[in-house]
Amino acid sequence: MDIVVHNIRDYAHDKHRTVDDYPFGGGPGMVLKPEPIFEAVEAVKKQTNYDGTPIILLTPQGKLFTHQVAQGLALHQNIMLICGHYEGVDERVREHLVTEEISIGDYVLSGGELAAMVVVDAVVRLLPQVLGSPESPVTDSHSDGLLEYPQYTKPRVYQDWSVPPVLLSGNHGEIAQWRRRQAILRTRERRPDLAERAKLSVEE
Ligand code: 6GU
Repeated sequence: MDIVVHNIRDYAHDKHRTVDDYPFGGGPGMVLKPEPIFEAVEAVKKQTNYDGTPIILLTPQGKLFTHQVAQGLALHQNIMLICGHYEGVDERVREHLVTEEISIGDYVLSGGELAAMVVVDAVVRLLPQVLGSPESPVTDSHSDGLLEYPQYTKPRVYQDWSVPPVLLSGNHGEIAQWRRRQAILRTRERRPDLAERAKLSVEE
């Protein structure tokens, strides 16, 4: 697994290595020019076996990054992430180069770099060859649309606070049932939006 960083400034043509310019029609801020981005992506495509590689623009206008989106990206041999910084990106990049636009949440960062790192971390930990990957990502928080159940370890009693007795019972059926119930209650309490969409049995 490799992460390779490319600087779009290396694909500018002038001696100042200009990658942005004023917006047509006026207004505040600068806009990233299309040529360096197109040329950077073309150059990177030639360096790899490009075959339906997602070309993703990180932008607050993108679709929300979720566990499901991470799982989808983890299936690809390569992904490309394009980060803006401070500024907008010429619309022709969106229309004719990128295959999807991703946002990591409803707030505005000064650039896409941190968002790209979030995406990379969430995707990389799903790759089976990565140390620390869950043995089965199926048990992750969010993978079944629910938040995770509470976890405990030793000691059995800390200060006055005991571990729930069911977890010490050795009854794996009851433990699984308790955890499922806690996950559902916790999700309903903290994230009613997720609870609404979670796949629950009639009894649940
Ligand atoms: Cl992907 N980029 C920026 N600049 N801000 C964001 C974002 C991305 N996702 C949430 N806020």
